[in-house]
Amino acid sequence: MDWIRLGSSGKDLTGVGAQAGHLSVTPSELALHNKETDAWLCIRGRVYNVTAYLPFHPGGPEQLMRGAGKDATALFEEVHPWVNFDQILQKCYVGKMKAHIEFDPEEVFRVSEKKPSSPISNTPNEETAKNATNKEPILLPRFDWIQKLEYITIIFYTGNFSNPMIEINQVDEKMFSIFLIYNSSIFENEIIFFDNVHWPCQIKVTCETGKVELIYKKSQGNIWDNFGVLKQKCKTCRNSLTEAKFKCEVINKIKVNYNTVLVELGRHDRNKMIVPLGKHIKVFDTIKGEDVSRSYTPVPNCLFNKFKSQPYTTDNICLMVKRYPEGNLSKILGDCLISDTITISKPMGSFNLQEIERRETFIILAAGTGITPMLSIILFLLERRIRKCQHLRLLFFNRTPEDILLRNQFEELQREDSRFKVYHILSQPDDSWTGLKGHISRSLLEETIAEHLKDTTYVKTDIYFMVCGPTIFTTLTQQLFKDLNFKDDQIHFFLG
Ligand SMILES: Cc1cc2nc3c(=O)[nH]c(=O)nc-3n(C[C@H](O)[C@H](O)[C@H](O)COP(=O)(O)OP(=O)(O)OC[C@H]3O[C@@H](n4cnc5c(N)ncnc54)[C@H](O)[C@@H]3O)c2cc1C
Ligand code: HEM
Repeated sequence: MDWIRLGSSGKDLTGVGAQAGHLSVTPSELALHNKETDAWLCIRGRVYNVTAYLPFHPGGPEQLMRGAGKDATALFEEVHPWVNFDQILQKCYVGKMKAHIEFDPEEVFRVSEKKPSSPISNTPNEETAKNATNKEPILLPRFDWIQKLEYITIIFYTGNFSNPMIEINQVDEKMFSIFLIYNSSIFENEIIFFDNVHWPCQIKVTCETGKVELIYKKSQGNIWDNFGVLKQKCKTCRNSLTEAKFKCEVINKIKVNYNTVLVELGRHDRNKMIVPLGKHIKVFDTIKGEDVSRSYTPVPNCLFNKFKSQPYTTDNICLMVKRYPEGNLSKILGDCLISDTITISKPMGSFNLQEIERRETFIILAAGTGITPMLSIILFLLERRIRKCQHLRLLFFNRTPEDILLRNQFEELQREDSRFKVYHILSQPDDSWTGLKGHISRSLLEETIAEHLKDTTYVKTDIYFMVCGPTIFTTLTQQLFKDLNFKDDQIHFFLG
């Protein structure tokens, strides 16, 4: 059979069935399809399953395999840029590559001039910009705005699961710099409003779609002709973002258990910062003349009330800190008083939310304060609408019953949402403890999540694990996953 006939035979050459043409493929996912029996490649942002084409490639299958699992654009252009690959591979088209910007070092600019628009809303702007050499299209975050008499809302669409870090600086009553940092790029949006607005603005981030809404109250309650002017720039993140430090004030503090506190930090300056899911910050201090810093992972502010998603995203930073009597920074945070000043860094960490976009079953293994990065993630997973989470299991390891943080909150969540199940495992239980005992082990996993360990390809590859705890806990878990044949891209370890 020749290639054209195979293409018209009705056979699914994409291997992804009904999702063909609609997938948004991440580089890590593309990299998985690098075998002769399962080969995908990307040319000019379009991803194809070339497995069936391998025997038909005039340059031979080995040549085509050089591009498998990769962005093969450069390779393709080098050999035969004239080949109409899109036509030849039309039946193999899987979808687009997820927006990723690779250019350096030029910056790009897009200026949205004041243009007449309906008084209530404008039309979404789908523009892309080009870099100085006009080679790669650059996907700036799509911008939109909407107004009511008293409010103006500006909206950026950063892309599904982009998990942006957001920083807003007030320049004056009309002008703001809004930094959106994701996909290794910094998008700077300088906005000059049509008229004055109040500060601070409200922020709403919808993590699933990457929609960022900034809601400003107008100084004068009237309808504007347009929103003003927006200038967008983009550059690749090269320098560490972590050098900047911010001063915060302790605005709230409660005890969580005998050795752990919840501390809320607020800011009163012209800057707002939203820490992405799963990222941590550093806290700085000077102890006996020496600079000391330690990492802490912000937890949802709702923990001061009920463990439940909130409609708005606050830029107050909430930390759950276990106080070690011999500790340096944990003691400072554990003993801090309302209105004390605490210095923090910008967010950091390697968690990539896009890795969990296509998963539906999640298993969290946390030990002690290793629970902190999981709290926002648990709320996010249970809130997902487009691809609902089906199962969420938390295996929470502690020493004694008194050490279990947020036990009531987890049990309440378990009662309210049947997809969530918590298992407490204690290493030093008292005699009254009837629950699970011991350390992380294969038999413990079999006792708790056996249904998810079944060796069927579907069940096993659908699971995503998140692990956080002391080094020994992480090392043991890593070995265990290897023995159970889980793949590296199914697991995220939160490390320092
Ligand atoms: C990415 C990341 C995120 C983190 N998030 C959080 C968080 O959200 N909440 C939180 O409470 N902590 C978190 N930690 C741990 C935190 O960074 C500090 O290590 C911890 O607060 C101890 O710091 P310290 O300055 O008080 O103690 P150090 O000055 O580092 O240690 C002094 C003494 O304190 C005692 N000590 C310190 N750590 C431990 C320990 N783990 N077990 C037993 N004894 C100890 C020991 O006696 C030690 O000799 C995180 C760590 C990382 C790497
Ligand atoms: C990405 C990695 C690829 C490599 C390294 C590669 C390499 C080659 C080589 C070495 C030849 C032989 C050239 C010659 O004989 O002079 C060739 C020919 C050819 N390849 Fe590829 N190829 C790649 C991808 C593709 C793709 C994706 C398609 C189409 C869908 C394609 C279609 C063809 C065609 C049609 C020819 C014959 C071209 C001609 O004679 O002008 N190749 N390729």
